Amino acid sequence: MRQSSLVVVSNRLPIDDSVAPDGACEWRRSPGGLAGALHAILDRTPATWVGWGGKVGDAPALPDIGSLRMRPMGLTSEEHRGYYEGFANSTLWPLYHDAVLPPVFDRGWWETYKAVNQRFAHAAAEAVEPGGTVWVQDYHLQLVPQMIRELRPDVLIGFFLHVPFPPPELFMQLPRRLDLLRGMLGADLVGFQRPQAAHNIAQLAVKLLGARVTGDDQITLDGRAIRTGAFPMSIDVAEMQALAARRDVRERAAQLRSDLGRPRRVLLSVDRLDYIKGIEHRLTAYSELLRDGRVKVRDTVMVQVAVPSRERVDSYRALRHRIEGEVGRINGEHGRVGEPAIHYLIQPFDRAELAALYQTADVMVVTPLRDGMNLVAKEYVAARADASGALVLSEFAGAADELEDAFLVNPHDVDGLKETLLRAMEADPADLERRMTAMRTHLVGHDIVAWARAYLTTLDRTGRVAAGLRK
Ligand code: ADP
Ligand code: G6P
Repeated sequence: MRQSSLVVVSNRLPIDDSVAPDGACEWRRSPGGLAGALHAILDRTPATWVGWGGKVGDAPALPDIGSLRMRPMGLTSEEHRGYYEGFANSTLWPLYHDAVLPPVFDRGWWETYKAVNQRFAHAAAEAVEPGGTVWVQDYHLQLVPQMIRELRPDVLIGFFLHVPFPPPELFMQLPRRLDLLRGMLGADLVGFQRPQAAHNIAQLAVKLLGARVTGDDQITLDGRAIRTGAFPMSIDVAEMQALAARRDVRERAAQLRSDLGRPRRVLLSVDRLDYIKGIEHRLTAYSELLRDGRVKVRDTVMVQVAVPSRERVDSYRALRHRIEGEVGRINGEHGRVGEPAIHYLIQPFDRAELAALYQTADVMVVTPLRDGMNLVAKEYVAARADASGALVLSEFAGAADELEDAFLVNPHDVDGLKETLLRAMEADPADLERRMTAMRTHLVGHDIVAWARAYLTTLDRTGRVAAGLRK
């Protein structure tokens, strides 16, 4: 087997094995932030990407993407249940997102999580050339860094957590907290979205493992120095700007506005259907604004785009059911014939259609209860070529650290959310332009390539690994 100097490991690959009608393997960009964003920087890099092909069963044969080699992993249905739906998405996911839903601690899931992590670690260890680099992604694979260290002590190991890393009081609830902490700290560099997460892990390492803090962003454990730090993830800004500048996209945006009945204002939300995204709180706020007569259906239209996610997990199915009931109720009570209060679209869209939707939106409403970063907020800013439009953004999204000129809001406070929506809808265009220009300027200097460079040059101070990235 050919080996690569850079191996990326994540639960999900950027493509799955869906087959087009002509029998060719179809590319599907994952709706999640991680795979799409990493794909944007790796597609021209000689590297191997180890990950799951998206369907239960044997590993599919997937084509390479240019010089990026795919190393697909299979998952049995038992593994899918215990590792992916269970430990990753029913224990770690809710706990890491402030326990907005109670995490489930099922003792049966742990062994499967460990076994799958071990298989991914083996695949990565086989794929990396001597002295190379392995970059492990996200909460599904928290044990992999230490496992690779045991298999391949010669390689550099990076770990990046895309989701929040919780405060010690929450992390301490995890029955397997020591293994999970040791697993992550097997890396040479542990990266997070926000600085607070790096403080949290340092505190935990001292308290639980007797590690020492030996410098800014450095922990020493068992005589080995481990760096930590915040590397806020970003998007392919140039791609979104190019899409936004396309004539067909601008025409499509105008068409969408006309299809929506040329309202005075269009509000837009785009989310994976996840309970962390705060969709229900947002619907409550919007429906109260309609009820109170502070927003009129003919005047204002709300578009909610949602992608179904993790549909075999009960909490996700129940959430979808509740949201669809609520959208039905709001439309039933406040809509008119041919004029729904909310346009609810539960479909995947291609990038150009998303860009057109962003251009149509006067107010983008991004109100997660907790979110590692939230790339949708950044995509909206990148798509607003004329610096118009308002971004309403939750304080609990990682993006709020950077997009300080958004209309920041606490989504748990429904009254505050209502007032902020009204403020954003009524804002003075000059104020909006000032805010949007500041956010756009920030994004241009902090795109996905800058993110990967910052991370990889901290991991490998020689700059060798980052040199292979797209310019
Ligand atoms: P998460 O990673 O939790 O899903 P992010 O906001 O960070 O949240 O990333 C979501 C990504 O999925 C964005 O790049 C967004 O453009 C994409 N996306 C969201 N909804 C859709 C959709 N309906 N069709 C296609 N892509 C989508
Ligand atoms: C978040 C996670 C990713 C995950 C994505 C989509 O962005 O951080 O690791 O891939 O959600 O979720 P899914 O379960 O469909 O992979």
